[in-house]
Amino acid sequence: MRRFLLGMVAGVVAVPIAIFVCGWFGLLSTTANVAAPAWEIAFAHRALDAAAARRAPRVTNPVAPTEANLLAGVKLFKDGCAGCHGLPDAKISTTVNLYPDAPYFAGYPPTEPDWQLYWFVKYGVRYSAMFAWDKQWGKDSAGRDLTDERIWTVVTLLKHLDSLPPAVDTEWHAKPHR
Ligand code: HEC
Repeated sequence: MRRFLLGMVAGVVAVPIAIFVCGWFGLLSTTANVAAPAWEIAFAHRALDAAAARRAPRVTNPVAPTEANLLAGVKLFKDGCAGCHGLPDAKISTTVNLYPDAPYFAGYPPTEPDWQLYWFVKYGVRYSAMFAWDKQWGKDSAGRDLTDERIWTVVTLLKHLDSLPPAVDTEWHAKPHR
């Protein structure tokens, strides 16, 4: 029994030490020309999902899915997010090559709850191009920080991509006005 326990402890400690030693001496791959191993991707996804579930505050989205708010969300998305996350039609898609890839929301709307999406957008995702949007939008003329309202607005859009009212859907599929 004692040997079994010792063996188990050694195993539990040995794996992190082995990974650390591999990284320290340059044995882990860091290039972006090949896909990462499946275990690494699965681990990173799990760590991200679990962090969002544990750390994001469970706040209620204050922005209702009215036509006006959804239209505002389309504009915010096309101006700020589509450059990486892509546009709805492949013909006008502007998805860039990132590593890791930015999820293509127009084709695969996100399934996380609003409060987790808000948290991802506000605080970003480390080791990826998804920088933190906190304070990125500045203040209005009255000195009010616009960040929260804009993040919730774009989150409201992301959560309703499957059920947009016709006028918003048309705008969603329209070429960006620029
Ligand atoms: C510079 C490129 C870039 C821009 C601009 C950008 N993103 Fe991202 N975003 C990414 C990448 C890359 C990821 C994937 C990170 C990962 O692998 O977990 C990501 C991840 C996310 C996630 C988490 C997705 C999930 O399901 O795990 C959300 C939500 C998100 N972005 C929303 C937005 C919104 C909303 C905007 C605009 C306000 C935006 N992003 C702008 C690159 C970008």
